[in-house]
Amino acid sequence: MPDNGAPVINYGLVGVYIADSKICKVDGTAGRLYYRGYSIDLLAKNSSYEEVCYLILYGHLPTNEELDSFKKKLIDARPLPDMVIDVIEEFAKKQDPMDTLRSAVSALSAYDNKMDDRTESANLDRGVNLISKMASIVATIGRYRRGGGYVQPDSSLSHAENLLYMMNGTKPSQKDAKLLDLMLILHAEHSSNASTFSTLVAGSTLADLYSAVTSGIAALKGPLHGGADEAALKMMKTIGDPDNTETYIDEALKGKNKIMGFGHRVYKTYDPRAMIIKNDLMSLQENESQEVKTLTAIALRAEKMMIDRLGKTHGIWPNIDFFAGPIYVSMGMSIEMFTPIFAASRIVGWCAHMIEYWKDNRIFRPLEYYSGPLDLQYVPVGERK
Ligand SMILES: CC(C)(COP(=O)(O)OP(=O)(O)OC[C@H]1O[C@@H](n2cnc3c(N)ncnc32)[C@H](O)[C@@H]1OP(=O)(O)O)[C@@H](O)C(=O)NCCC(=O)NCCS
Repeated sequence: MPDNGAPVINYGLVGVYIADSKICKVDGTAGRLYYRGYSIDLLAKNSSYEEVCYLILYGHLPTNEELDSFKKKLIDARPLPDMVIDVIEEFAKKQDPMDTLRSAVSALSAYDNKMDDRTESANLDRGVNLISKMASIVATIGRYRRGGGYVQPDSSLSHAENLLYMMNGTKPSQKDAKLLDLMLILHAEHSSNASTFSTLVAGSTLADLYSAVTSGIAALKGPLHGGADEAALKMMKTIGDPDNTETYIDEALKGKNKIMGFGHRVYKTYDPRAMIIKNDLMSLQENESQEVKTLTAIALRAEKMMIDRLGKTHGIWPNIDFFAGPIYVSMGMSIEMFTPIFAASRIVGWCAHMIEYWKDNRIFRPLEYYSGPLDLQYVPVGERK
């Protein structure tokens, strides 16, 4: 405790452990990430989003039968209730897609006819339903924002393919579906990040899973968290010409501005997810549009400059959001849909953590050090100056 009696305050809960979890390990020193013990590199190379969801939710890689039955549950849950489509139609063009997503996911609880069943198995089923419907909701928001109408899901398509199909109204290319699947795998889970913590805080009051994940969506929206991929791409577009990159970054840093897509609370080295995305982006270049090529050139120059200036000295390296933008652009995705896509992936992490935390639930109730006055005199309103 400092001399004045004030406690040490952990602003941003830096260094505070909030749970004992078996879901995800982020090794910020070595730059490694594991879902349920499997490295992200292995999963990105060999797995699919559906399989990764199963792994994160149930704790082991599925057998063929388990995976087939899990995929069927996801497919069956894809169609959206009419009222949820109405919510999307009403709001999609009037507000940020993350706000529409929050409202639509919240509305889903109206269609849960077993709301009082809080058993683990009921919550796992709810989680599967949410994973499936979040993708349909995000796709439908994207669709309505472009002036289209609701597209019925196609049960012959994978999760990633169907999301793109419901968003665009046409079946995606193999390349786009594979890229989206990869992005969904990479964003699926990341330990006690701000949105997962938000989910846990809401759920620790024993509020239901819909309320908890709605809180996660709210926390993901901000540019310091999920919104960083949009902000990073906007910066690349503002830079415009690769030759402007160094001047732009230099001036931004001199002005004490943060460069979005860099830095991390846990990683003090290269984020392994950013490396996977960068490698994929590099392998795409040959057949890409001039826009993607220019964005990539800017990204590479910004990356080099930031690593030279702040990497080794300050531990500020590219994070998952930095190279994501050019990848999404190459898929024809609108910029404002990047964070909703992130949410459609991270839903599995939120659900898995919430279900795990409920096994040994304790309400979150941290302390605040009060440093204001006490015992002030109450002055009637008419006598106040
Ligand atoms: C991710 C992030 C919120 C982590 O926050 P944090 O652990 O609380 O670290 P801080 O924001 O306190 O940053 C610590 C120092 O590094 C600097 N810093 C952190 N990220 C930076 C960035 N992206 N660009 C420039 N400087 C950065 C801060 O200005 C601060 O400097 P100071 O000590 O001189 O004041 C932060 O790095 C950030 O805002 N990054 C940009 C947003 C982003 O990409 N978010 C996605 C994360 S996956």
